[in-house]
Amino acid sequence: MKQAQRLKSVRYDIRGPVLRRAQQMEEAGHRILKLNIGNPAPWGLSTPEPIVADVVYNLGAAQGYSDARGIYSARVAVAQYYQNQGVTSVQPDDVMLGNGVSELIVMSLQALLDTGDEVLVPSPDYPLWTGAVTLCGGRAVHYRCDENAGWLPDLDHLAAQITPHTRAMVIINPNNPTGAVYSRQTLLDMLELARRHQLLVFADEIYDKIVYDGAQHHTLAALAPDVPIVSMGGLSKTYRAAGFRSGWLAVSGFTGRDTDYLDGLQLLANMRLCPNVPAQHAVQTALGGFQSIEPLIGPGGRLYEQRERAWQELTAIPGVDCVKPAGALYLFARLDPAVYKIHDDERLVIDLLEQQQMLLSHGTSFNIDEPNYLRLVFLAPTDVLGDAIGRLGTFLSTYQQ
Ligand SMILES: Cc1ncc(COP(=O)(O)O)c(C=O)c1O
Repeated sequence: MKQAQRLKSVRYDIRGPVLRRAQQMEEAGHRILKLNIGNPAPWGLSTPEPIVADVVYNLGAAQGYSDARGIYSARVAVAQYYQNQGVTSVQPDDVMLGNGVSELIVMSLQALLDTGDEVLVPSPDYPLWTGAVTLCGGRAVHYRCDENAGWLPDLDHLAAQITPHTRAMVIINPNNPTGAVYSRQTLLDMLELARRHQLLVFADEIYDKIVYDGAQHHTLAALAPDVPIVSMGGLSKTYRAAGFRSGWLAVSGFTGRDTDYLDGLQLLANMRLCPNVPAQHAVQTALGGFQSIEPLIGPGGRLYEQRERAWQELTAIPGVDCVKPAGALYLFARLDPAVYKIHDDERLVIDLLEQQQMLLSHGTSFNIDEPNYLRLVFLAPTDVLGDAIGRLGTFLSTYQQ
């Protein structure tokens, strides 16, 4: 049976051939160290107890479908969250819950794009964005993020990518895979371009509370009440509940003229009936009260210390550089082409997997052209990270392609 033609150009390589090879090795009895996926709970970074308790408590009442947009209490909690961030217009009816941000990314693009429409997506990106644009018949046009400027978007390059077909701009902040946290001025400049060219902006802010060293995350929608923005967040990272599949979007800056798009989004929400109801009960508890992520991201906290250790040891390997991430859960490391002659980075991670039973992600799977980047997830405890990076150093010291 043939797959749909339109899938032929959809790429999602972070879960592609490399992962298949890892599965084969596991089936053959190897233990693989997985530093390739931002999934906190398996590393002992568990969902806070009150969140789990709330889901359990409400399980009996979660048997039926909910409102297609999600249960009211969760939508109120999300609306209040954005109001507190300065996005004063957001009301519960502007909020829609989803089975993770992933589902909402696909839905929100599906509601917008016709064949050939263009969407500005960062390079490197979280590759679901590129894949989903393609799946929806659109064309992902990548704007460069500049490693020499701490991976901030290159605004001239971004502006130069805009054509009459451009419909939207994706901003991932804090960024996966680079860990960059954008300055207020950078965001204002990006918003000005969106305003001038009447683009819809998608703000993927799933890492908004995972910032280090005093970096400040600016909620995009608070900076431009007049620009149509779809802001997205969820429980997977900050609340370590990736398996719950719970996320949200909030719309702001839409005027009467733009509501056709929102009607389309509602149609798609209705068609999937509703998001998983038990997990929706986690949202209000998560967003209110004590934010258990905070002790994890400061000195002495697990995420902070793991980032320190991983970054120090990684950059101590000869020929490996890495902009220190100010947010999120990843190190996006550069292998100096003068030291390492790599022309196929997928081959590189498969060779690493086979020789060291360790899984990283290759840079080109994040839609960057150069084949000399690797992404490492720093969710594992420091001793595991130390051992893993030691093994990576051993591997690289003799590696040739
Ligand atoms: C930038 C970004 N957006 C969205 C997602 C998807 O999150 P969810 O688990 O809510 O589907 C991820 C997951 O890694 C991500 O890194």
